[in-house]
Amino acid sequence: MHFTGLKSVGESWQQAAQYLDNNVGGTACLVAAMERASVQRLVFSSSATVYGQPDAVPISESAPLRTTNSYGRSKLLCEDILRELQMADSRWQVALLRYFNPVGAHTSGLIGEKPTGVPNNLMPYITQVAAGQHPFLRVFGDDYPTVDGTGVRDYIHVMDLAKGHLAALHYLEREGKGIAVNLGTGSGVSVLQLAAAFTQATGIAIAHQILARRQGDVASCYAATDLALNALAWRAQLSIEAMCADAWRWEQSVRNL
Ligand code: WQD
Repeated sequence: MHFTGLKSVGESWQQAAQYLDNNVGGTACLVAAMERASVQRLVFSSSATVYGQPDAVPISESAPLRTTNSYGRSKLLCEDILRELQMADSRWQVALLRYFNPVGAHTSGLIGEKPTGVPNNLMPYITQVAAGQHPFLRVFGDDYPTVDGTGVRDYIHVMDLAKGHLAALHYLEREGKGIAVNLGTGSGVSVLQLAAAFTQATGIAIAHQILARRQGDVASCYAATDLALNALAWRAQLSIEAMCADAWRWEQSVRNL
């Protein structure tokens, strides 16, 4: 797969342009507005996709930063802007939070993500299969060098992610300097393992079919979590079953099931 630096072959320029406009353009506008308001402390939503295809897992924050898709490229450009801003002006303190794979919803079932159109991400697609919107889960490749051949990711409950933001804000207030830190559980879960965990948590079987790999995907991606624990005194608490149960409760709530 040939990466041109802004997008991988097979990605559309429209998709790449949308990420650049939204993520990079949006960050530049935000920083300008913050500067005008003399607000220079920021907790930024970065992504594990800035690591691209890692040399080793778990991935530590000192791993090389390189990307395999336009989304990851846009996030890395934002990180570069914010790193250079801090170097140029010490008043700025930024926490770059490298989200691994946020999933789930608020336990009340009243707050969650509602993707427009067919979701790209795995968990919302699984909950739509469970709700009968799709006949089966498309599994993008089962020939990766992983536990069962399917892609391995570090899924983290959005409620743990929210607490990670508070911990990062307290770090900035306490230390008066920026940080780049992983927000993940440190555990890798494959596509088939997540589908099985969903069934375990909800009693709903998820039919699947194996398809070809998806452009830009990496085999395995999960976090080293020691910096988050040592610097932020934060670690993920909620289980993969809780992620599935809360994601399903939200799907049912959205559909009034
Ligand atoms: C996960 C795995 C797919 C859909 C994420 C998101 C975002 C970002 C981190 C913060 C892969 C497979 C997927 C499907 C499948 N975090 N899959 N069938 O690709 O790790 O990207 O990066 O910014 O959370 O951009 O997440 O959920 O798309 O895919 O088999 O219908 O599930 O191949 O192995 P990904 P994903």
